[in-house]
Amino acid sequence: MTVTVHPAAALAGSPRLPADKSVAHRAALFAAVADGESEIVGFSDAADPQSTLACLRALGVEIEPRADVLGPDGTPSLFVQGRGLDGLRPPTDPLDCGNSGTTMRLLAGLLAGRPFPSTLAGDASLSARPMGRIADPLRLMGADVGLTDGHAPVALRGGPLSGVTYRLPVASAQVKGAVLLAGLSASGTTTVVEPVATRDHTERMLELDVMELGGERHVSVEGGARIPARQWVVPRDLSAAAFFLVAGSIAEAATISLAGVGLNPTRSGALDVLRAMGADVRVGNERERAGEPLADLRVDAPGGLEGVEIGGALVPNLIDEIPVLAVAAAFAQGRTVIRDAAELRVKETDRIEATATFLRAMGADVQERPDGLVIQGGRPLHGAHVDARDDHRIAMAAAVAALGASGPTVIEGAQAAAVSFPGFWDALNEIASGSVEYL
Ligand code: S3P
Repeated sequence: MTVTVHPAAALAGSPRLPADKSVAHRAALFAAVADGESEIVGFSDAADPQSTLACLRALGVEIEPRADVLGPDGTPSLFVQGRGLDGLRPPTDPLDCGNSGTTMRLLAGLLAGRPFPSTLAGDASLSARPMGRIADPLRLMGADVGLTDGHAPVALRGGPLSGVTYRLPVASAQVKGAVLLAGLSASGTTTVVEPVATRDHTERMLELDVMELGGERHVSVEGGARIPARQWVVPRDLSAAAFFLVAGSIAEAATISLAGVGLNPTRSGALDVLRAMGADVRVGNERERAGEPLADLRVDAPGGLEGVEIGGALVPNLIDEIPVLAVAAAFAQGRTVIRDAAELRVKETDRIEATATFLRAMGADVQERPDGLVIQGGRPLHGAHVDARDDHRIAMAAAVAALGASGPTVIEGAQAAAVSFPGFWDALNEIASGSVEYL
């Protein structure tokens, strides 16, 4: 799908955001191995969480939406018949994780210690992403993990595991989650040590033990721990909200409201960075649902942004928002430096290169560094032809830049947005009063 996005000086509306992808994956996985029926309120119809559901169904888990039980936003609740960890059925075919790294890495952890073989496969992008980072700790636990040159398909033989203490060599919540989920099947205690904090949904949702020791986080799980069936409430995704927060912050006039957005402190760094740049984002009605904090957000046009420095321990906290923060930087006065973000090169595509490419095509002054970007903001951007590179966040970040550019921007591969945000183009069109043209 190709879309053309026309400039829009004034933005207004209350776009409906998709469910938080990270929480949705985990709610489905935990409900599947819980004892009894769980309800997931506000699940997502985005492609990535749907990949997790498809894999769980292939493992024998019954999952049904019930149109008679609606969440606060009108979406049917999902009912999952938890089979307990021991009740998963051997899959007959490779499990298709689609484009979803979280599905593949968390499921690899969950399945490594099951007494049956399984294979996890993905699309071309996922098959190019590093899987050695999960194979290494799982092998230390005794798992038999086959990879091809460090990549998917991930072939698990299944068998007994032993608990380990594993210090994460890269800041990755997916690796942390994989090791902790394998720990459920392992003998003894499994501990993940995080030198730099990553999103803490797994430990929050499973109520795991967390200790701070010498500036590091130690997260532990006991082998054989049972997961109780329960109700999960999935917040709206801050990573999706970020596109509108930036759109509103670079517009000449804007009032955009975003309801029920997850504000987990290990995820909300983009909000702090935007405010440091001068954005006018207000947070109200703060509450907590099923262990996750959420709030309603409102963004107004601030009348100018300033450059900022992003690096160090903040990076894992806003890693998925960097492409759109780079867009904000291109519209800000002064220099923005993004460092310590080499992980971006192994996301759905190389997001450092992809972001630099579309921003430059639109006239921005952007230099690529091995671990980030240097953006000299303030040059007027113009419309361009952009290839989304099959990456949802690149498609959506380019669309936000297009709203503030002069002339139309053609975005090829716009369908990629549906990986995390199926309603994105309509939502953008709604706030930008008809600026999106579908070809
Ligand atoms: C995720 C963790 C992050 C993030 C991804 C979702 C998760 O990846 O980029 O979109 O749900 O655990 P890493 O854990 O690989 O950094």
